[in-house]
Amino acid sequence: MTTSPQGRPEPRPGILSIAPYVPGKSSARGAKVHKLSSNESPLGASPAAIEAYRTAAASLERYPDGSATALRQAIAARYGLAADRIVCGAGSDELLQLLAHGYLGQGDEAIYTQHGFLVYPIAIASNGAKAIVAPEKNHTADVDAILKAVTPRTKLVFLANPNNPTGTYLPFSEVKRLHAGLPAHVLLVLDAAYAEFVQANDYEPGLALVSEFDNVVMTRTFSKIYGLAALRLGWAYCPAHVADVLNRIRGPFNVSAAAIAAGVAAINDQSFMDKALAHNNTWLAWLTKEITALGIAVTPSVGNFLLLHFPKDKPAASADAFLLDHGIVVRRMEGYGLPQALRLSIGDEEANHAVVAALREFMA
Ligand SMILES: Cc1ncc(COP(=O)(O)O)c(C=O)c1O
Repeated sequence: MTTSPQGRPEPRPGILSIAPYVPGKSSARGAKVHKLSSNESPLGASPAAIEAYRTAAASLERYPDGSATALRQAIAARYGLAADRIVCGAGSDELLQLLAHGYLGQGDEAIYTQHGFLVYPIAIASNGAKAIVAPEKNHTADVDAILKAVTPRTKLVFLANPNNPTGTYLPFSEVKRLHAGLPAHVLLVLDAAYAEFVQANDYEPGLALVSEFDNVVMTRTFSKIYGLAALRLGWAYCPAHVADVLNRIRGPFNVSAAAIAAGVAAINDQSFMDKALAHNNTWLAWLTKEITALGIAVTPSVGNFLLLHFPKDKPAASADAFLLDHGIVVRRMEGYGLPQALRLSIGDEEANHAVVAALREFMA
């Protein structure tokens, strides 16, 4: 019988070298706090979704529909998809973890990009596989670098498109080129958490690739434009054989009844979506212009957040402390290898003005 050095149960190799995900801070000094650290919706959730959530309170003793049928049908109707190829999860985080769990193991490699979303290395390493980082160009995924990182051990590629925290995206032509360069046994996971915000004509979240090929999955979330982050709700559109794998390994009731009800109401409330998008379009452009004018470089973003690069003589850590003192919470970027940057979510009108005023004072 083998005993661990500590004489207690030990996790699988590699688990203890995982750096835990650090969520955005949610408090600051000051009477009014503007939380702009987690890319949440400044408009809250659709009133119809809130009402559906309240109605769900009447049946808390019942298990949810384990297949989230109503939600999958609502998503399928909204996007013209096959409902049986949609799998819902407790946030898209759960789906990313399930994909890694289903397809990665000891000895395998999975690729993500240099400033890619930090859930990917966690999902990869927690399944015993090795995370391979592909360099980016101008804070943007580089298809050639990803393809160069492929080895016979590669099983999966995670691509956030648009990416968090950079806000940059790959045009669909580049995503197709990436897919065309991957061996057929490598699963390409297109994480389109911010797809609804993108206004570029050459962008596609990837549904067409999922429909056509056996090795592409797209994940989406209700946490961002729909404003339902607290409920934990996401979905994946998959080839039938991948949906089958996810349905075998997910928890039988992984999505709550309240999340299903609110999700159905949210996806059917187009006017709320339109309002949220119009808000983002206005303030993304305004903040980019105002902050750039202060001498802070802003990576052009298609999401609901901006990556701010501070000049050398103005440490980002000092800017973060200054903003906190003014009741503004943003995201530090050391974990993403960007120590001189901060990430700022688009807020409501008052928050956006407060950010620009505080940054102006900091830069003066
Ligand atoms: C790129 C990306 N993917 C996935 C997620 C996960 O979202 P959720 O688990 O709330 O659906 C996030 C959240 O910040 C994200 O930025």
